[in-house]
Amino acid sequence: MTAGQQDQDIAVVILAAGQGSRMKSDLPKVLHKVGAVPMVGHALAAARSLNPSRIIVVAGHGAEHVTKAVAKLDGSAQIALQTEQLGTGHAVAQALPALEGFAGRVIVLYGDTPFIGAATLADLAAHDADVVVLGFEAADPGRYGRLVTDADGTLERIVEFKDADEATRAIRLCNSGVMAADAALLREFTARLGNDNASGEYYLTDIPGLARAAGHRAAVVTCDEAETLGVNSRAELARAEAIFQTRRRAEALAEGITLTAPETVWFALDTHIGRDAIIGPNVIFGPGVTVESGAEVLGFCHLEGCHLSTGATVGPFARLRPGAELGGDAHVGNFVEIKNSVLEEGVKVGHLTYLGDAHIGERTNIGAGTITCNYDGVMKHRTEIGAEAFIGSDTMLVAPVRVGARAMTGSGSVITQDVPEDALGLGRARQTNKPGLAGRIMQALRDQKSKKDTA
Ligand code: UD1
Ligand code: CA
Repeated sequence: MTAGQQDQDIAVVILAAGQGSRMKSDLPKVLHKVGAVPMVGHALAAARSLNPSRIIVVAGHGAEHVTKAVAKLDGSAQIALQTEQLGTGHAVAQALPALEGFAGRVIVLYGDTPFIGAATLADLAAHDADVVVLGFEAADPGRYGRLVTDADGTLERIVEFKDADEATRAIRLCNSGVMAADAALLREFTARLGNDNASGEYYLTDIPGLARAAGHRAAVVTCDEAETLGVNSRAELARAEAIFQTRRRAEALAEGITLTAPETVWFALDTHIGRDAIIGPNVIFGPGVTVESGAEVLGFCHLEGCHLSTGATVGPFARLRPGAELGGDAHVGNFVEIKNSVLEEGVKVGHLTYLGDAHIGERTNIGAGTITCNYDGVMKHRTEIGAEAFIGSDTMLVAPVRVGARAMTGSGSVITQDVPEDALGLGRARQTNKPGLAGRIMQALRDQKSKKDTA
């Protein structure tokens, strides 16, 4: 690394226009998920690790869907359209207008290659050759492009498998597809690419050879083959998922998180778990979950878009949906579903409950079978419950409704009006007892049945 290399301006171009025909899917390949996040999201996350000033995603097949997904994943990434997929070099050329005025280093990534590590990318970006290719020693070089190097290891050119002779095919050093080059060099040489090759495509891989012939320096940075794993079929997608999960489980254990049965826990790309958290068996993390240190998730829970503070306990068999926010020492027990609701410190929701669009004050107890009736068929409404309240079992809270601090509701109540602070809200029929009636009803029913049986 030469002085000043770390401070240079970086732009990332993510190629994501291909159809992925081997996926046999209506969904563009890069939108298939690994770790609950579309593959293009993994490329965007890797790109972000370089702190770039621009990210451009080249979309083509299913561009409308890809554009939407990218906007959701990274609001600052731009889209360049490649309406016809004429090759990787042509794809990069479509990103050049979005790089207008950019004078730094451009890193090209693929949207279907989710495992390139941040450290590898940093190495690549820091290299001072004019064009740098990320290569790897392939166990089975198969149909990868081959990296032809000089005696001193510098890159001479890349030869695509289809265009390679026997001697070149014997090379095991392969092209990952990831490349770094100065913006000016890319502009100059993408304009010079031809398509006179076995595929009739404009190959990005011709650039190192062309640049070298013009006196520029080309180099190779290598990485582990595992990082370059690309996804082309459903089988490879499943394999990528398995690899992702295996890694995340190992990382979690190494970070000081207890996983009772690691092989049964499923992580998302953005799952954050603090040290000393305990995660039981068969827990599934969807996107957007943060579990602070010391929280505990018991078996068979499904969590998505939620936050658990220190000391919170969840499950077994609980479902936390987006917007569930659990304060310190909050307890959510079995068969409880929580959506878009804040539970302040020490709230207890032990059993069989649905809380949606609610705010629950500190140390309030929610009885078994409580439901916030938040949806009227058209609109959603809020339920506000104060601190230290006691919601009786089987309370229906018909929103919008408020229950004040330290208030109670009687079991089985249908609460349609606000309950003031310190008050008891009762919304159920008064009980009456009819002496002897149970016995008489039973006898009448038995008589009916024996009549039927003898008829
Ligand atoms: C490419 C490389 C090859 C390398 C291999 C690694 C070229 C010419 N070859 O081959 O050296 O070993 O990747 O996996 O670059 N794409 C577009 N627009 C296009 C064509 C491709 O966006 O017009 C995207 C695809 O969606 C994909 C990526 O670029 O994400 C790679 O394209 P693909 O056709 O899979 O290239 P390979 O033949 O695998
Ligand atoms: Ca490929």
